[in-house]
Amino acid sequence: MEYKGLFAPSSMLVLASIFSHLVTTNGDITYSVPEEMKTGYVIGNLAKDLGIPVKTLSARKARLDLDDASMRYCDINVDAGELIVAQRIDREDLCGPSPICLLKYEIVLENPLELHHVIVEILDINDNSPMFASNVIELEIHESADKGTRFAINEAHDVDIGRNSVQSYRLQDNNHFSFVLHKNQGEGTYGELLLEQELDREQQQEMKLLLTATDGGTPRRSGTVVIHVTVLDANDNAPVFSQNVYKTSLPENSPVGTLVLRVNATDADEGTYGQVTYEFGRISRDVSKFFTLDSKTGNIFLDDSLDFERKSVYELGIKAKDALGLASFARVVIEIVDINDNAPIIHLKSLNSPIPENALPGTEVAIINVQDKDSEGNQQIRCAIHGNVPFKLNSSVKNYYSLVTTSELDRELVSEYNITISATDGGSPPLSSFKTIHMSVSDVNDNPPVFKEQFYRAYVPENNKPGLSICTVNAIDPDWRQNGTVFYSLVPREVHGVQVSSFLSINGETGVIHAVRSFDYEKFRSFKVHVIARDNGSPPLSSNVTVSVFITDENDNAPQILYPAPDGNSYMTEMVPKSALSGSLVSKVIAVDADSGQNAWLSYHIVKSPDPGLFTIDLHSGEIRMQRDIAEVDNTRQNLIISVKDNGQPSLSTTCTLYLVISDNLSEISELMETAHNEDTSKLTFYLIISLVSVSTIFFTFIILVLAVKFCQRKKPRLLFDGAVTIPSAYLPPNYAEVEGAGTLRSSYNYDTYLTTGSRTSDFKFVTSYNENSLPTISTLRKGNEDDIDGFLLDTRVSEEVCCSYIHIKGKYG
Ligand SMILES: *[C@@H]1O[C@H](CO)[C@@H](O)[C@H](O)[C@H]1NC(C)=O
Ligand SMILES: *[C@@H]1O[C@H](CO)[C@@H](O)[C@H](O)[C@H]1NC(C)=O
Ligand SMILES: *[C@@H]1O[C@H](CO)[C@@H](O)[C@H](O)[C@H]1NC(C)=O
Ligand SMILES: *[C@@H]1O[C@H](CO)[C@@H](O)[C@H](O)[C@H]1NC(C)=O
Ligand SMILES: *[C@@H]1O[C@H](CO)[C@@H](O)[C@H](O)[C@H]1NC(C)=O
Ligand SMILES: *[C@@H]1O[C@H](CO)[C@@H](O)[C@H](O)[C@H]1NC(C)=O
Repeated sequence: MEYKGLFAPSSMLVLASIFSHLVTTNGDITYSVPEEMKTGYVIGNLAKDLGIPVKTLSARKARLDLDDASMRYCDINVDAGELIVAQRIDREDLCGPSPICLLKYEIVLENPLELHHVIVEILDINDNSPMFASNVIELEIHESADKGTRFAINEAHDVDIGRNSVQSYRLQDNNHFSFVLHKNQGEGTYGELLLEQELDREQQQEMKLLLTATDGGTPRRSGTVVIHVTVLDANDNAPVFSQNVYKTSLPENSPVGTLVLRVNATDADEGTYGQVTYEFGRISRDVSKFFTLDSKTGNIFLDDSLDFERKSVYELGIKAKDALGLASFARVVIEIVDINDNAPIIHLKSLNSPIPENALPGTEVAIINVQDKDSEGNQQIRCAIHGNVPFKLNSSVKNYYSLVTTSELDRELVSEYNITISATDGGSPPLSSFKTIHMSVSDVNDNPPVFKEQFYRAYVPENNKPGLSICTVNAIDPDWRQNGTVFYSLVPREVHGVQVSSFLSINGETGVIHAVRSFDYEKFRSFKVHVIARDNGSPPLSSNVTVSVFITDENDNAPQILYPAPDGNSYMTEMVPKSALSGSLVSKVIAVDADSGQNAWLSYHIVKSPDPGLFTIDLHSGEIRMQRDIAEVDNTRQNLIISVKDNGQPSLSTTCTLYLVISDNLSEISELMETAHNEDTSKLTFYLIISLVSVSTIFFTFIILVLAVKFCQRKKPRLLFDGAVTIPSAYLPPNYAEVEGAGTLRSSYNYDTYLTTGSRTSDFKFVTSYNENSLPTISTLRKGNEDDIDGFLLDTRVSEEVCCSYIHIKGKYG
């Protein structure tokens, strides 16, 4: 408030002149004084202006007459006759905003009393700065405020007046606002902030602008205010996702509740405007089933078990919105990562079962298809066959395998296969699955029946009952059902001139061979038949086997006495010379047995003899010898009953009577013979007639024979049969030619067996071995009846070197 007097005069003078003029008109003294002058400041020379000498003033008690002492701003310096400032004068105090501020004084002078009006005009000085109502103007502006929006600002106030009052405003440089001063007529001025550029709270939440108001005084004074602009939020920001697309991958075996992903959208707005909530945007129901979204946090959780094989990628639209509904969208892509959770599946597409066992290697029997729902490596399948089976897998088309045979099959060895196929995928750990294919092998008639034995022998005792089962052949055919059903049959052929079927029959199913008839060992001893075993396949397969049938001997033949003819049928009488000495051979019983072996082993016994001491018979050879010399007293007729026994069980025997006459006179013999047969029964009369004829014939033959012997062998005139005897071929077994090999008699069939044995001293000579061809052609059996021999013709040629005569024996049995 210092007033600088130096500058005052010119302006003062102007004012003074105005007021002087005024004073002039009113006759009053007018002064002007700037406010805030120092006490003692001389406002005016009162004495001079009043025209009153200074010296008198004091005497005249010149004084300012004041009603109110407190208003005594001025005083009179009586000594100098000047009006001075007595007290600080503040125009603004005194007059406020009034443009004219006058102090009116009355100067009283006494002696004489004089009254003068003095008007002191207080002049304004720029002693006040513009002032704002506050230091800070708080201004809240919505960021959404449009450009051009005005915001009134309280003007600054300067108590000074006139030029000293606020003249101009200046706003701190900024991007958004300008300051506009309005001067309204009569209403004074007011300022406005003009929004030149929209605000963005998100960029600048507040700003402080310094507004300076400047007055027009000299020097200028200014006052400032801070306009604190707070930018109020408007929901001008949609939430913004941190990414447009969120991608994540998730193993398909993730448990329910797994946090899949967190989306994050931020809203630059504040408060509720900036509160972001999340929700699914467009989303299909099958997707929403799997995921849940936390609306507050943006966490996406798994809500259901995933299956890569059903859906491998999920796309979710996520919407983020703020409270007022501004929204934005993002995409979430969730890729499901395959886990090897699917085992391969084996499908059997076709199966040729059964397959015939003769299928060639490489025959396709089945087609399988393998599938795995997993992907890539988890889907790569390896197939294998387990176990040692003649099959393999041939991969022809992707994921298809054909099961082919690797070798030939044999139903008879393995009739069915369980082929286990495994499929393993390439995951880690790998998963496998198995399938068992049941494959059966069908039969082909590839096996002929095979006999258990290479050949069969059957031994049949002779005289068997017809129908006797003699042997069982058995053939095995491992084929199936009818291909393995065996039927037996005999190969038709002739055996001994007869169809084999008349000997044997075979049970076609069981292979039991029966004898059709009774066999006779003495007719043939063995024969062979072929049995065929045939299966029922088509075509049938067969094999054959030889069955050798051996007929075994039974003691069914009694010894047969060749000489002498058996009891009652022979009228032969042997003559024993009276000169016969002890030990000389008298006769010999010749017997054969059609059986063989033990059954033909003959022994000779004298059963009855009139003079037991006279003759003995050799047990084995049948030779009858003198036991002692003949005495004169001995009966001339010696009839010996001789029994020939074989060695069978039971043994059979035959007896014969040997008529011996001890005489040297032939005529005696005929007499004796007549008497010998007197006892014959009358029944035999007819036979006797025949017999007599025969006997006489034989007799004469015998005589001839005796004579011949006598002539031929004079040295042994007593021996009747001292020579080779040829065994009648009738007693050879009929089948002697049916010998194994080339018709050669087996050694076991040696002739010895047919003959009396043990004839150490025998003069009989036998051909020990011969074949059919070597036999005399006449030595054949002339069979009358085939079944039993009821008669025979013996036609024996005696060896010529021994004797040139014939023995002709003819006999007949009743
Ligand atoms: C979202 O993102 C913003 C900025 O990227 C970050 O500051 C805030 O922490 C995130 N919020 C969440 C919940 O991750
Ligand atoms: C296996 O398949 C191939 C073709 O992929 C074929 O040429 C071959 O003959 C088959 N082998 C057998 C044994 O079938
Ligand atoms: C094959 O499997 C079936 C049933 O599992 C069984 O009865 C049969 O004996 C098996 N065959 C072979 C040859 O293993
Ligand atoms: C027998 O074998 C034939 C082929 O030789 C075959 O066709 C037939 O099916 C077989 N029979 C049986 C019952 O297996
Ligand atoms: C018997 O089998 C042999 C070979 O084993 C054969 O040569 C012959 O022809 C067969 N005989 C018959 C009658 O089938
Ligand atoms: C032989 O016997 C007859 C009568 O019996 C007798 O007549 C005859 O003389 C006898 N001859 C001799 C040589 O003895």
